Amino acid sequence: MFFGLFGESEEIIGVDIGTRSIKLVQLKLVRGEYHLVNLGIGQLPAEAIVDHTIMDSAAVAQCIRNLVESQSVTTKNVATSVSGHSVIIRNIFMPMMTNEEIEASIEWEAEQYIPFEISDVNLDFQVLGPDPKDPSQTKVLLVAAKKDFIDDYLSVFNECGLNPVIMDIDGFALENVYQANYQQEGDIVALIDIGANTMTINILQDGRSVFTRDIQVGGNMFNEEIQKRLGVNSDEAELAKLGGSIDEIHPQILNDIISDAMDHLSQEIQRSLDFFAATSSDQKVGRVYLSGGVVKTPGLVNILQKRLGTPVEIMNPLRNVSIDSSKFDVEYVESVSPFLAIGVGLAMRRLGDK
Ligand SMILES: Nc1ncnc2c1ncn2[C@@H]1O[C@H](COP(=O)(O)OP(=O)(O)OP(=O)(O)O)[C@@H](O)[C@H]1O
Ligand SMILES: [Mg+2]
Repeated sequence: MFFGLFGESEEIIGVDIGTRSIKLVQLKLVRGEYHLVNLGIGQLPAEAIVDHTIMDSAAVAQCIRNLVESQSVTTKNVATSVSGHSVIIRNIFMPMMTNEEIEASIEWEAEQYIPFEISDVNLDFQVLGPDPKDPSQTKVLLVAAKKDFIDDYLSVFNECGLNPVIMDIDGFALENVYQANYQQEGDIVALIDIGANTMTINILQDGRSVFTRDIQVGGNMFNEEIQKRLGVNSDEAELAKLGGSIDEIHPQILNDIISDAMDHLSQEIQRSLDFFAATSSDQKVGRVYLSGGVVKTPGLVNILQKRLGTPVEIMNPLRNVSIDSSKFDVEYVESVSPFLAIGVGLAMRRLGDK
C-alpha cells in the first residue's frame, strides 16, 4: 500500500478507475478463503478521463455512485489506485539504515529522481533489501505522485460519500492479485495489464516486483488506427473492433488493421522485456500473465507467444476466489474477469497493509 490513509472498519471495496470503465469489486475473507461479495463495471463517457487525469469529475462520481447503488454496497471504505506519468516509481539505492532514518532522509534523496517540486508530491517507499552487489547499500522502492493528481481522485470518492483509505499503484495491485492466485517461487514472471489507454508492466522475481513500467498504448490505439484508415468516428471504430458490423467496412481490411495494432503492441512488450533482460544480467522472463480488456482481442495471446518465445496466458484474478453461483452469473463473471485484475488486487488490500 502506498500513500496510506486512515479508516475504521475492516471492510473495503476495490475501485479501479480506468479510462474506459470503472470496476468495483468487494471480497470477503472467510477462514483464509476469498469470496466474491460484489462486482460491477460501469462505462465512462469518452474524455471523462484523459491520460489518467480526471477531466469530468461529475461523470466519474456519477459512475461510481451508480455502481455502489446498483450493487447495494454498504461499505464506505475504498481501496483505489493510480497510474500514468504523474506517478513515478523508481528503485533507488541508499546506505544501509533503519526505516526511521530512511523516512527522515527520503525527501532529500528523492529530489534527484523526481522531475517535480518535492513539495508538490506525495512520497512513499518500501525497503526491498540489501543490494546483492554491494551489501553496504539497501535497495528502496520509491513512489511519488503529484498531490493535486491524487487529490482529484480522493475528492471524487468524497463527493460520493465514500472514504478512500488506500491509494495504491496499478502495478502493485496487479502484483497483489497475482500473489493471491498463483504460485510465487521459481520463475520470473511478467504481469501485463492492457487497458484502453495504458499498458502496465510489472516483472516479478520470487513474487517481488523488480521492474515496473507504464506505456501509453492500449485499446484506444486500435481505435485510432481504425479511425485513421477507415475514416470513421471513435464510437464506430470501437463498435467495428468489437465485432459489430458497420456498413462499408470490409472485414478483411479491419482484420489487417487489428493485426498491425497487435504487432505494434507485441513489439512494445518485447522491447520492455528485452530492456529488463539487458539490465538484470540477462535474466529472462519465464511466463507472461495478461489482463485488461485488450487481451480479449482474438489471436493476441498467440501472436505474443510467438514473438516472445515465452508462454503467455490470460490471468484469472478470481482463480482462488469462491463465487456463489446462486448470487452471480458465473459465465458472465468469467467473461469479464480479464477486466478485473486491478480491481480484485485492490479489493484484497487490508487496512494497515504495507
Ligand atoms: N472483446 C474485445 N476485443 C478487443 N478489445 C476489447 C474487447 N473488449 C474490450 N476491449 C478493449 O479493452 C479496453 C478496455 O479495457 P480496460 O477496461 O481494461 O481499460 P481501462 O481500465 O478502462 O483503461 P486504462 O487501464 O488504460 O485506464 C478498450 O480499449 C476496449 O475497446
Ligand atoms: Mg485499467
